[in-house]
Order: sequence, then C-alpha cells, then structure tokens
Amino acid sequence: MSAERIYIYKRYERFWHWSQALLIIGMMITGFEVHGSYALIGFQKAVQLHTLAAWTLLTLWAFTIFWQFTTGEWRQYLPSLKNVLAMVNYYVIGIFRDAPHPFRKTVVQKHNPLQRLAYLALLAFISPLIWISGLFYLFYGNWPALGIDQYLSLEWVAIAHTAGAFMITAFFFIHVYLTTTGHTVFAHIKAMITGWEEVDEHPKKH
Ligand code: HEM
Repeated sequence: MSAERIYIYKRYERFWHWSQALLIIGMMITGFEVHGSYALIGFQKAVQLHTLAAWTLLTLWAFTIFWQFTTGEWRQYLPSLKNVLAMVNYYVIGIFRDAPHPFRKTVVQKHNPLQRLAYLALLAFISPLIWISGLFYLFYGNWPALGIDQYLSLEWVAIAHTAGAFMITAFFFIHVYLTTTGHTVFAHIKAMITGWEEVDEHPKKH
C-alpha cells in the first residue's frame, strides 16, 4: 500500500496544541507540588507559577474555542459510536499483530472514533471540572462577598480539582503512548509539528 501526504493540522492548531501541552505539563508539575506530593521549587513559587499558567491556559482556551467555531473544526469532536469497537479491538489486539489500522485519516475526519470519544470526555467533563474548580480556588477570597461560602466548602473544591488533575494526568500518559502508534514511533508527533501526515492510500483505490 503506498502512502499519501495530507496537510492535516493547520498552523493555529499546532500552536495551541503545543502551548497547551507545555502549560498542562507545567500545571501538573506545579499542581502536585501544591498538593504536597513532592518539593521541587517550593510551595510559594509553585502556587505563583500554577496561577500564572492557569490564566494563560484560560486565555488560550478562549481563543481556541473561538477558532474552533469560526473554522467549523469543532465538528471534529462530534462523537460517532460507529467503529469504536473496531478501534478498541485494534489497540488491544490488532496493533500487536500488525493488523491494518481500521481508520483512515482525512482532512474532514482527522480523529478516529475512539479519539473523538476521548477528546469529547476531556472537553466536556475533565476540562470543565478542572477550570471551574480552579476558578473557585482562585476566587476563594471573594466567596463571602459573593455569598458562595454558605454552599461550598474548600474541601469539596480541593477534591474536585485534585480528581480532575489525576484524570488529566492519566489522559496525558495514555495520549503520549498513543502518539507512538503511527506507522513509525514519531509519525504522529512529526505531523503535529509540520502539519503534514503520511496516510496509507485507500485500498479501494487499487
Ligand atoms: C490543566 C491541568 C491542571 C492540573 C493538572 C492542576 C493540578 C492541581 C493540583 C494537583 C492542585 C493541588 C490541589 C490540592 O491539593 O488541593 C492544584 C491547585 C490549584 N489549581 Fe490547578 N491544575 C490544573 C489546572 C488549573 C486551572 C485551569 C486553574 C484555574 C482556573 C487552576 C487553579 C488552581 C488553584 C488556584 C490552585 C490552588 C493553589 C493554592 O493552594 O493557592 N488549576 N492544581
């Protein structure tokens, strides 16, 4: 089967992907120091950097949501249950037996069905859990003025935020592992850097 090169990740997309990656790595490192898991740069410094990265990330997300809607790319995240099982089967069994990938990327459909579900879970559940609890944390000093202190305890915010942090950390490691499952170990990473991905030509064409 021969390969074809397609331009799959646009310039802004690559920019937000890598800046989000750097920010999230920074937030994991500083966040778990704030949590008390280890001492690396000191609690105070970790809180400061975590807060700075939080505002930067919220700004990046605001621009990215705007980009997703103005370009119509948000449709890439619509879930489709079709072929999800085929994807699960591929990652659990097929990949180790050199079976063909059940999904072929195209410009209009660049995520496989399992990826769509995973990104939707991240977008619709894990991210909001993190940023909503994060904002409650950031504005803790204003709770009495806003009248929130009667309904919410800091303990609940800490539990929600830490649970979200563990989920995004799990997502991160699975995500990085899956980037290595292209036709070469760095094929997907290279595509996210250059924008160009090599995909197998559709067998039907032959
Ligand atoms: C995206 C990845 C993120 C990770 C992995 C993460 C992780 C963490 C962790 C583990 C803690 C310590 C929680 C505790 O022990 O109670 C923490 C604290 C905190 N996070 Fe995050 N967080 C993330 C994003 C955010 C965002 C988007 C915001 C703001 C909207 C935010 C704001 C805060 C604040 C204000 C604290 C408390 C700092 C303090 O004690 O003063 N975080 N984060």
